[in-house]
Amino acid sequence: MTDLLAAGVSRSLLDSGFAEVTLPSEGGTLLQEAITRSRAFFGLDAQVKKRHTSSDLNFGYRPMGVEYSISPDRPDLNECFTLWADRLDLIPAAEELAPLTDALLGWRGFLVPFVGDIVRHVADAFGDVTPPDFAKASYLQVNFYPQASSGGRDLLQDRHEDGHLLTVIHATDPGLEIWDGLDGARAVSTGAEQVLVMPGSVLTALTGGKVAPLYHQVRNHDLAGRISIMYFVNPELTEPLHPWNGDRKVDLRDQVRNKPSMFGLPDVPVL
Ligand SMILES: [Fe+2]
Repeated sequence: MTDLLAAGVSRSLLDSGFAEVTLPSEGGTLLQEAITRSRAFFGLDAQVKKRHTSSDLNFGYRPMGVEYSISPDRPDLNECFTLWADRLDLIPAAEELAPLTDALLGWRGFLVPFVGDIVRHVADAFGDVTPPDFAKASYLQVNFYPQASSGGRDLLQDRHEDGHLLTVIHATDPGLEIWDGLDGARAVSTGAEQVLVMPGSVLTALTGGKVAPLYHQVRNHDLAGRISIMYFVNPELTEPLHPWNGDRKVDLRDQVRNKPSMFGLPDVPVL
């Protein structure tokens, strides 16, 4: 049922460089449940949340101050929670977080086939190419901005592109700004049942530059409690990753694997 929607997203990515999507009702319900459960989690005591932090900070809860967009001395002003693939076993004490992890797995269950359809439709535009598998190398991340006004910064996240294949993002409150080929940045928002699909530089490499990475930033509107939820889509790196356009002999895996280092994060795992 989402295939027609995915075909439209694919056309928007190729023609406009990003896509605004109104979800079917079951997708919107799963998304809102994930937001509700995430808000409850971030409201927990700091010491409780830290119990769910992995030693490499890549799984589960990550306090503010680790991840950045341009420079380590300007960390993103949010804490976050990440679920890689469906690997609850990588999140310390995940069994204590069943309402949250159930909701995230539910939202992921909508996203995986939807994103699969999108990637296949984009690949089809380049002829006889095989889209990469992605589910085991992709992850959900929920960002929570507790006190946006602290620090006096105009931007909560500096201008960046995500360095992934695609990002599917929903935000509860204003702040996101994108450069979509027009003059300067413009504000975009998502309604309760809406997401944006943003291409990253891995899609740029795969398409031989046909789809540019969508640069974006998050402006500080002094809002407390803003939540954004992203599905960061990475290709699995177990097979060679050849461009769909241009020199098809090149293997793109090395440049994909260490892209998170530009944000202070570990390499992309395949789980
Ligand atoms: Fe981003």
